[in-house]
Amino acid sequence: MKSSPAPRVCKGQVRILQTIVRQWRGLSSTSAVAAMLLTFPVPLQAQDILYAQDQGKSTEATVVVRGPWLNRRLSPDARADAAMAAMTHQEKIAVLNASPIGVPRLGIPAVKETDASLGVANIGNMRKGFVATALPASLLLGSSWDADLAFRSGAMVGSEARASGFGILLGGGANLIRDPRAGRNFEYISEDPLLTGVLAGRSIAGIQSNKIISTIKHFAFNNQETGRAVYSVAMDEKTMRETELLAFQIAIEIGKPGSVMCSYNRVNGVYACENKFLLTDVLKGDWGYRGFVMSDWGAVHSTEALVNGLDQKSGGNIDTKLFFSKELEPKLADGSIPRSAVDTAVHRILRTLFASGLVDSPPTRAEIDYGAHADVAQAAAEGGMVLLRNEGNVLPLTGAAKRIAVIGGHADLGVLSGGGSSQVIPVGGFALEIPHKGPIRRSYGGTPPLAAIREAFPGAQIDYVDGKDVAAAADLARRADVAILFAEKWSNESDDNADMSLGEGQDDLIDAVAGANPRSVVVLETGNPVLMPWASRVPAILAAWYPGQRGGAAIAGILSGRVNPSGHLPVTWPARVDQLPLPALPGSDVPRANAEVRKAFGFQADRMPFDIKYPESSDVGYRWFERTGAQPLYPFGHGLSYTAFRYDKLKVTGGRQLTVRFRITNVGQRDGADVPQVYVAQPGGTKRLMGWSKPHLKAGQSRTITVTADPRIIGEYDATSHKWSVPPGQYTIDIAHDAGSVVETSHVAMSRREVRP
Ligand code: BGC
Repeated sequence: MKSSPAPRVCKGQVRILQTIVRQWRGLSSTSAVAAMLLTFPVPLQAQDILYAQDQGKSTEATVVVRGPWLNRRLSPDARADAAMAAMTHQEKIAVLNASPIGVPRLGIPAVKETDASLGVANIGNMRKGFVATALPASLLLGSSWDADLAFRSGAMVGSEARASGFGILLGGGANLIRDPRAGRNFEYISEDPLLTGVLAGRSIAGIQSNKIISTIKHFAFNNQETGRAVYSVAMDEKTMRETELLAFQIAIEIGKPGSVMCSYNRVNGVYACENKFLLTDVLKGDWGYRGFVMSDWGAVHSTEALVNGLDQKSGGNIDTKLFFSKELEPKLADGSIPRSAVDTAVHRILRTLFASGLVDSPPTRAEIDYGAHADVAQAAAEGGMVLLRNEGNVLPLTGAAKRIAVIGGHADLGVLSGGGSSQVIPVGGFALEIPHKGPIRRSYGGTPPLAAIREAFPGAQIDYVDGKDVAAAADLARRADVAILFAEKWSNESDDNADMSLGEGQDDLIDAVAGANPRSVVVLETGNPVLMPWASRVPAILAAWYPGQRGGAAIAGILSGRVNPSGHLPVTWPARVDQLPLPALPGSDVPRANAEVRKAFGFQADRMPFDIKYPESSDVGYRWFERTGAQPLYPFGHGLSYTAFRYDKLKVTGGRQLTVRFRITNVGQRDGADVPQVYVAQPGGTKRLMGWSKPHLKAGQSRTITVTADPRIIGEYDATSHKWSVPPGQYTIDIAHDAGSVVETSHVAMSRREVRP
């Protein structure tokens, strides 16, 4: 933004100013704006000449009218009211349509948006040459169970967004992980509403600590990619409130995101972006949400969306029609859509811009300390990788490993990352990109694990083969003291996986290598749990998920013991596909969309419309496994350490408030962090995660952990009385290493309690 000390105002601009003065005067007797005007120190006048907000592209000077909306001492609501009183109808329509130029005449700057939670994204290198710090997948953040880490990594991404000129970050993803075949799970945190809500909320708070807006998404029930533009989730209110809506509710309470992105799919037959129940009744009504709702890109299907709770159509004009401009005007003219709907939405958007700090300090390009940020990415990776198996303490590898075979997974080039809009091009670029469709590519980058392993074991002879020749890989493994095998499965936005297998012949490769060397370690780079028919034949398995640009260093750190693993599964790891609630991913057998459906549902319609019914209702994830008695390969919450932790001195108090206290002691030889978990079950109900902690303890050190129950977690939603209620009775409390390994159980009487929705 450039300013000139000597404003020159042309006739046309004077006319605009006069119109505004008239508008304000018209309001003076009734509106609160008048009172503000009297107190505002700067009279209404053209004070500066600012160049249009597309920074230098336009050479036309714009008169900036300074009014109370620029007075930082006023509340965001008062500032929004004042600005709206000065705005033309066209300017309001531009705000509704996420205009890329802001309202320059009023000094309300353009706000640029960018994806996403894992870093400032650049899908398909659309912003030529733009790189950013690539965090691990959100699934790995979920595995950290570490709310402070969530804040720190969010703050890092937010600061890069601001320093790159962006004011709205289109992250974080808070959909629940329901099915390990869903392609976008790497962008989400967990299968549990509390874990998802707390970590998403803290990440959002970190992002917004940079005076920018974070966007929680995709609201709601966008739990798979197959048919995302056409399917409808059929779900009763109780189930909605107790599962994904609870995750969003908690995240919104903690993080207070400036915007909520409504999703592509339909819920009970109504598009999420025009779903009055979701947007108006629940989000803005019951939860008192004060930010604005923006659409996912191409997810708007009507002008009525505006009345039902959508405030901003984002993503340019990729919807089937110009719903918030050309289609809107005749309806405003004939009164079928009230003008107040425009004002309500614009007010929400503007108040959020003012509240965020974006108007007073618009983002400008600044130096980024990529070195320090890479350390944050590495800390995140180290805090979330999950050591699934470590028979005979084969890990950490000791100095006795003189010959190490490294096999497969492109470990010589970099680590795998998930594809789609969240794709970050890491600092240093990608080493390998395999085209998939459109701008979506299967990409490898960051510190190559092979290089990091070489650095971690300087005295060892380390050889690498890519694993394509199974016999050569087995031969290399046979001659080594230890074989480290990298297995991978790529996931991306807009596709789901047909099954849970690793594929690409990797099971055979692992079988052959494990047969050749009993000291074989498998490192998984996947966006979901995968089937591991060979699991009992390899002594160690590390789930590295998509570990971000310093993932290689984090993997080497865990293998060498420099890092004591402390990640725990945020999802249940099934042993077999038939343990899942649905045998096949919904819609996978539905025919391709015909021309008529594509016309009606938009260009993203990949199938004919279909319904999804989740048989698990509120028993998502580990609760489904408990309900059906199925034994997962690894339970929710599972994760090994190089030390051991003991829990004792359990003390539970009930009544109105449930509080659980116990002691944790690091009884092993190494310092390390643990994730002690507390589960609660209503009489006759399945258990739910009530709380957890992530203490870092020195060897021998103890700490007392206190966990207090959120009544929404221990209670249930009553759709008739429109309240959460905790039924009276004996509740079961477990302190546990994971959902399947209970250390101690206690019972406590709870009295009835009701809480507003
Ligand atoms: C994705 C969103 C993303 C948007 C903009 C959509 O296709 O679903 O998550 O923020 O694109 O890239």
